[in-house]
Amino acid sequence: MKKNIIRHTYQVSVTNRRKANKHNSFLIWFTGLSGSGKSTIANLVEQVLHKRGIKTYTLDGDNIRKGINNDLTFSPQDRTENIRRIAEIANLMIDAGLVVLAAFVSPYKKDRENIKKTVKDVNFVEIYINTSIEECERRDVKGLYKKAKAGEIKNMTGVSAPYEAPKTPDIEIKTEEESIEDSVTKIIDFITPKLKLSYE
Ligand code: ADX
Repeated sequence: MKKNIIRHTYQVSVTNRRKANKHNSFLIWFTGLSGSGKSTIANLVEQVLHKRGIKTYTLDGDNIRKGINNDLTFSPQDRTENIRRIAEIANLMIDAGLVVLAAFVSPYKKDRENIKKTVKDVNFVEIYINTSIEECERRDVKGLYKKAKAGEIKNMTGVSAPYEAPKTPDIEIKTEEESIEDSVTKIIDFITPKLKLSYE
């Protein structure tokens, strides 16, 4: 049926929206193990941006999987589909002029590469929240690692499913070595030049 679908062009463009917002729009992607601190850091970064008058929105694995993606499991295929949908949603939000923050385990390199293709390289910032599996298991905020070790949860990333760490992320946060304040500052410093419109 795809061949009978013809894209319609609208006159209000992403450039118009970015100009109206007085800032650029792009995607800030947080990847890392469950319990690594992705959502906590994304939440703090969004607050700083919001206070500066930047229009933002955060997509979060746990929330999205309760809604639009509640049909998906944690099998490799479903994780790929999870990330594909999020990339498409993020792409629409970028088009709408927002700075999008996304916190997903996103364990597969190939899936993260595909996000970049969907939103375009220039609109993609990859942040690796690097917390060791030992530390995540120790924190076990949601009690999932305990359940995974007891065999109650299958395909648990870091326990019974792989996590392919990014080799060249834009930013790497080692949560066991850096303070949360320093991590947020590091991210904000990286993002700030990207917010500026090049066509002003
Ligand atoms: S992803 O791998 O498809 O990117 P996503 O970020 O959406 O995962 O969801 C991860 C969240 O689901 C975790 O933070 C955790 O709370 C929960 N979860 C439940 N089961 C699993 C599992 N088997 N592996 C990883 N996370 C799980």
